[in-house]
Amino acid sequence: MSVVLSEENFNKLSEYIYRKSGIYLEVDKHFDKLVKYMSSRCTELEFDSFRKYFYKLRFDDADGLEFQELMNAVTVNETYFYREVNQFEVLVNHILPEIHASKPAGEILRILSAPSSTGEEPYSMILHLLEEAKLIEERDIEIVGIDIDSTVIEKAKKANYSDRAVHAIPKKVLSAYFDKKQFGYKLIDDLIGTVDFKVCNIFDKTDVRKLGKFDVIFSRNMLIYFDDASRKEVAMTFYDLLNPDGYVLLGHAEYMSRIVSVYKAKKIGDTLVYQK
Ligand SMILES: C[S@@+](CC[C@H](N)C(=O)[O-])C[C@H]1O[C@@H](n2cnc3c(N)ncnc32)[C@H](O)[C@@H]1O
Repeated sequence: MSVVLSEENFNKLSEYIYRKSGIYLEVDKHFDKLVKYMSSRCTELEFDSFRKYFYKLRFDDADGLEFQELMNAVTVNETYFYREVNQFEVLVNHILPEIHASKPAGEILRILSAPSSTGEEPYSMILHLLEEAKLIEERDIEIVGIDIDSTVIEKAKKANYSDRAVHAIPKKVLSAYFDKKQFGYKLIDDLIGTVDFKVCNIFDKTDVRKLGKFDVIFSRNMLIYFDDASRKEVAMTFYDLLNPDGYVLLGHAEYMSRIVSVYKAKKIGDTLVYQK
């Protein structure tokens, strides 16, 4: 049973995806990907039409599993350890010491990686903290990683990585904190569990509120998949999630000043950061 997706139905589905997740799929770039997914999903569900599938997605998905399947298929999860490494250096050498100095003793310093994908970004923070900062002896630091895609969150919790994912980690750090496997590397047991990973859609206000407040938010390479209205909404969500004077760091192609004007842009060395 193969379901063919017309351009009209592609538009209906992509509009739905956009409203729920902010992800904007264009017919020119994403038509084939969605057709392939629809066809295999309808076969699994034994549906013979797009109409049945779309009905299930909208009205018969109380547990959200159908929507989750769709999200897992449409997201782009590309990432690697030490990506834009200067941002991790600025985090541990400038931002965290500054927050530590002004935060009352005993309070936990909290960092959000949104989105974390398969975990390389928040684990890179852990590795930098271990390698470069004395701070972890003086202050409890909690790192939370969220992503809308449940498959990447499961992978992050297992912490198995390909050679490509670890290629930018200095050899000394790699051998200290990873076990070599037949294929790729696994983070050492002592570090597994040091990041709190959760499936969370950044547009789901109820789930986002449950995350609590943060001192720093890394949001790299997610806003590029959104349009202006969604970027604005997410930028304001981050604003609400941040403690006073908290920081946001974005990917190299993302600029807060083009989205909202509520943050102060600051340069630390060559690294652009945004302060509440
Ligand atoms: C390219 S990865 C970025 C990973 C990492 N931050 C980095 O820069 O290397 C983009 C991630 O954004 C996630 N994503 C897309 N829309 C999202 C949403 N609405 N809420 C949470 N995560 C989302 C995707 O699932 C994907 O894993």
